Amino acid sequence: VLKFFTLGGFFCLFVCLKNGSCAELNITTDPSPVTAKLGSEVLLKCLFSNTAVGAQDIDIMWYFNGRELTHFNRNITINDTGVKMNESDLQQRNASVFLSNVKIDDEGKYRCRIIDMPYEGEKYKTVEYLAVPQVSVPDYFVTENRPSDVECLVDGYYPKDLQVSLLQDSQVERSPPTRTETHRKDDGTFSSTFTYFFIPTNKDKEALYTCRVNHSSLEKPLRKPFRLSFESTPRILVQSINDVQCSVDGYYPEDLGVMWLKDGQVLPGPHKTTTQKKENGSFSTTSIYSLTPSDKKKGAVYTCHVNHSSLKKPAEES
Ligand SMILES: *[C@@H]1O[C@H](CO)[C@@H](O)[C@H](O)[C@H]1NC(C)=O
Ligand SMILES: *[C@@H]1O[C@H](CO)[C@@H](O)[C@H](O)[C@H]1NC(C)=O
Ligand SMILES: *[C@@H]1O[C@H](CO)[C@@H](O)[C@H](O)[C@H]1NC(C)=O
Ligand SMILES: *[C@@H]1O[C@H](CO)[C@@H](O)[C@H](O)[C@H]1NC(C)=O
Ligand SMILES: *[C@@H]1O[C@H](CO)[C@@H](O)[C@H](O)[C@H]1NC(C)=O
Ligand SMILES: *[C@@H]1O[C@H](CO)[C@@H](O)[C@H](O)[C@H]1NC(C)=O
Ligand SMILES: *[C@@H]1O[C@H](CO)[C@@H](O)[C@H](O)[C@H]1NC(C)=O
Ligand SMILES: *[C@@H]1O[C@H](CO)[C@@H](O)[C@H](O)[C@H]1NC(C)=O
Repeated sequence: VLKFFTLGGFFCLFVCLKNGSCAELNITTDPSPVTAKLGSEVLLKCLFSNTAVGAQDIDIMWYFNGRELTHFNRNITINDTGVKMNESDLQQRNASVFLSNVKIDDEGKYRCRIIDMPYEGEKYKTVEYLAVPQVSVPDYFVTENRPSDVECLVDGYYPKDLQVSLLQDSQVERSPPTRTETHRKDDGTFSSTFTYFFIPTNKDKEALYTCRVNHSSLEKPLRKPFRLSFESTPRILVQSINDVQCSVDGYYPEDLGVMWLKDGQVLPGPHKTTTQKKENGSFSTTSIYSLTPSDKKKGAVYTCHVNHSSLKKPAEES
């Protein structure tokens, strides 16, 4: 008597003898998917039991996307270098294999198929790929009572599902973000920019913000604390080549006063000045004092005098 069962996606074939005892081939695994991180090694579990011990003629195969990865019939034939099958395990009716150096393309359903004529059966094992996100908050400068953006950058995660929130002093949540941009990278992982738009007030100068990210690859959410930058102090550098040049860099807000002094005497302007806004929102200015022919003959001390709201008193560099 042949009976053919389909049970949760696998087959179980019974052969019952006239005396009522049934020989059978059972294949078992645990149903939960295995999760794998980049480059890791995972065990694809597949155990079998057969009452007919004809282990000599048994065929054990693993498939992925219709491709045979490995085959045992007396000998092991490996058709995929990433798969490890162990003969002494097979003798213990353990057809589990290791999948090593896991990549994003290895995600999917693996099929463990066993033929022990006249019995046969198979079971599926799902591999889920996980990539842990990296969270960063770029330096960005804001002005009190003016509309501002704050960004949380979340990079290199997989799968796509992700929860992000902006906490203020670990309590008040700003959620959801005003704008979300997600793109898929060449390595298959995702990268997102979450933008929160709001108007910072005086109270925000003291506030500690946290960008919190939760993802299936994480045991607990990632937290990236930061403060809003309302001001940034300028760096000043004076160089003398043909002319004297004063570079003022990395300051915020934009208002800045630059003056030239020669031996302590103010040099009337205007001087050649260029101002640039940097990617992080800070500013840089270069001011050039053109030396006259008589300046070039006589040595003198040239001083660049910088006045900025972040400085308690104006800074000078000679
Ligand atoms: C096969 O599985 C069934 C039910 O899961 C169990 O009753 C039976 O004893 C198993 N047979 C073998 C040979 O392990
Ligand atoms: C082994 O893999 C290659 C491609 O990777 C495939 O063409 C071939 O059919 C495989 N062999 C078996 C026996 O499945
Ligand atoms: C099994 O492999 C060994 C060496 O790898 C070889 O000598 C033997 O002939 C193989 N047996 C079969 C049945 O393919
Ligand atoms: C196969 O497994 C046995 C026990 O599980 C272990 O002792 C042996 O080292 C393994 N062989 C290989 C080649 O991994
Ligand atoms: C099956 O073999 C794998 C690999 O050697 C081992 O990790 C696992 O513990 C074995 N399972 C059982 C039930 O023996
Ligand atoms: C994070 O996400 C997991 C599921 O991916 C969920 O179980 C957990 O409660 C979440 N934690 C927080 C703090 O949101
Ligand atoms: C902003 O970026 C510029 C370069 O683009 C860098 O020199 C400066 O240090 C940065 N400022 C801050 C406060 O990170
Ligand atoms: C420069 O300093 C004077 C006082 O010394 C102040 O009144 C003025 O606002 C400052 N200018 C800038 C751009 O900070």
